Amino acid sequence: MVVSLDEAGLSRLEVIGQRAFFDTRLSEPAGQSCASCHDPAKGFSGNLGSGLGVAPGAVSGVFGTRNVPSAMYLANAPAFQLRAIDGRHEGGLFWDGRANTLAEQAGKPFFNPLEMNNADSASLMAKVATSDYAELMRQEFGATVFNDAEQALSGLTAALAAFESTVTFQPFTSKYDDVLRGTATFTAAEARGMNVFFDPARGNCSACHAADRNNPDPRASLFTDFSYRALGVPRNPRIPANADAAYYDLGLCGPARSDLASSATLCGSFRVPSLRNVARREAFMHNGFFSRLQDVLAFYATRDLDPARWYPGGVKFNDLPPAYRGNVERNIAPYDLRPGQGPRLRREDEADLLAFLMTLNDRGI
Ligand code: HEC
Ligand code: HEC
Repeated sequence: MVVSLDEAGLSRLEVIGQRAFFDTRLSEPAGQSCASCHDPAKGFSGNLGSGLGVAPGAVSGVFGTRNVPSAMYLANAPAFQLRAIDGRHEGGLFWDGRANTLAEQAGKPFFNPLEMNNADSASLMAKVATSDYAELMRQEFGATVFNDAEQALSGLTAALAAFESTVTFQPFTSKYDDVLRGTATFTAAEARGMNVFFDPARGNCSACHAADRNNPDPRASLFTDFSYRALGVPRNPRIPANADAAYYDLGLCGPARSDLASSATLCGSFRVPSLRNVARREAFMHNGFFSRLQDVLAFYATRDLDPARWYPGGVKFNDLPPAYRGNVERNIAPYDLRPGQGPRLRREDEADLLAFLMTLNDRGI
């Protein structure tokens, strides 16, 4: 996008957040900002074109272990909790929900050695104190804000959260939104794709990527219910950490979060991502296994009918230790096929779904 770095209409707090988000001085060594990984042109996602499904860190030769998710449409994500209707976990930020608020989340990448790699709050704040928004920080949080690095950090993360809560991150300007508002109409292919998406007997996508197409308020269509599910995505051999055959990213049960490590039934579950701007993403799924949206759709259609297409030797769910493979969803469409049943999604359906997903791209990005 052409994110306009225009500051008109933003509060002082939001201006601080915007400048910090794009500030490449804030990594160690300098060169990487939040926007390097959360590229506005890619719906605030991307992996800097690494082609690996994960992003490089500020330190040369270092790579993350998870695909960079979009930072959009998160301002109203619920906190991490058990939901009443079915006792599943929902909400929180990160693929495993380990941060509860945007401000809490924003404090993490600065100090992650695989990301912006600062040693501590004091060294980070020394950079902020000499930035072109240091004076705004003093105006907002008090003249002595930089005397206490922790206080300054909590101001900075509040500012980042405020910026991420602006309309830039939740514009609701997609064609889908225009159709809800009655100012646009779908093409025939887009309309067919939408029907597949919402049909419980075909795509059933909306069972997890929840949206209310009859509600003219687009905020009821975030294309996620923020719940956690295990889909059995194939192991991505391009992730450097995966060179260790004993390394597994188990989502809710670790290793990035540790409080649910003994909840074996949660292993392999990741938060359902929003599908807004999904067609702009560089890689898909928590481990970035897929580089093409078409392949994600083909995976939904054929995971169980043609496992050899996705897993070496046809061994399903190879990114989970055998003990946890039973956690993977298999009793919900489009995955509830019995031997001999035809696919729930035909080739034409995949093309139509792709056309529909393209309507979730915001304008002007
Ligand atoms: C080196 C790349 C990189 C940089 C730099 C980076 N991030 Fe991220 N970001 C990621 C990855 C990878 C994740 C997912 C990590 C996980 O789930 O454990 C993530 C997750 C997030 C999320 C949660 C998204 C969701 O769906 O829950 C937000 C919000 C976010 N980052 C904002 C920021 C902000 C603000 C900064 C700057 C302070 C930043 N990021 C810097 C790679 C990066
Ligand atoms: C049972 C719940 C469920 C259903 C049904 C479902 N999804 Fe998903 N979807 C998820 C989860 C969970 C992820 C992330 C999984 C992971 O990364 O391990 C995901 C990821 C995706 C992604 C990748 C997004 C990204 O940011 O990387 C796309 C695209 C997608 N789904 C499209 C669809 C479509 C199209 C359908 C219908 C054919 C569908 N999904 C049905 C739960 C579901």
